[in-house]
Amino acid sequence: MSDPTPSPVGNSPITDKPALAPAISPATATTATTAAPKPVAKPVGKKTEERRGFLGTLLGGAYAAGWTFFTITMTGWTLYTLRFLMPNVLAEPPSKVKVGVPESYEDGKVVERFKDQNIWVIRNEGKIYALSTTCTHLGCTPNWQEGAQKFKCPCHGSGFYISGVNFEGPAPRPLERWGISVGEDGQLVVDKSKKFQAERGDWSNVESFITI
Ligand code: FES
Repeated sequence: MSDPTPSPVGNSPITDKPALAPAISPATATTATTAAPKPVAKPVGKKTEERRGFLGTLLGGAYAAGWTFFTITMTGWTLYTLRFLMPNVLAEPPSKVKVGVPESYEDGKVVERFKDQNIWVIRNEGKIYALSTTCTHLGCTPNWQEGAQKFKCPCHGSGFYISGVNFEGPAPRPLERWGISVGEDGQLVVDKSKKFQAERGDWSNVESFITI
């Protein structure tokens, strides 16, 4: 009777035969011996990493700059288009100005209360008229000199009588007059949409003065 010695592992019997190596075909062996070695990844150097980082930053910056440029261009184009869709509204001051009742004006006096609206109101020799405060030379604003009874331009010295007629300096023609009338409420109304020029004979037009 055979008494097989128990195997140290499990219950497999121990035999005298050595274990067979797994069979390798000649072809496999050849392949195994001649197979090309796998390429070994080279360690990435510090310089390469820096170069990659620099390129990444550069590309990122260019991308961001491109988007910024695109956004600005589109915004500008949109605003430009909207500008043409909007009505062109000009906020102009009203051309008609109420300047009080005729009785409030003293004869021979120039009222400068409306000078900032380009108006002098004058009662003189039975008439009330409104002069423009723009010098007919180059457009400066003359000053009324009560003592000398004249308008004197500070720019080049032109002088105008109380009537508005020029008499000294380079001004080529009298000051202009605005339209004037009496409104329904009894107040004088100066209309700056109507202009009267002495050299054209406009001052005889009844719309250029009020008789008082
Ligand atoms: S602008 Fe008034 S004199 Fe020249």
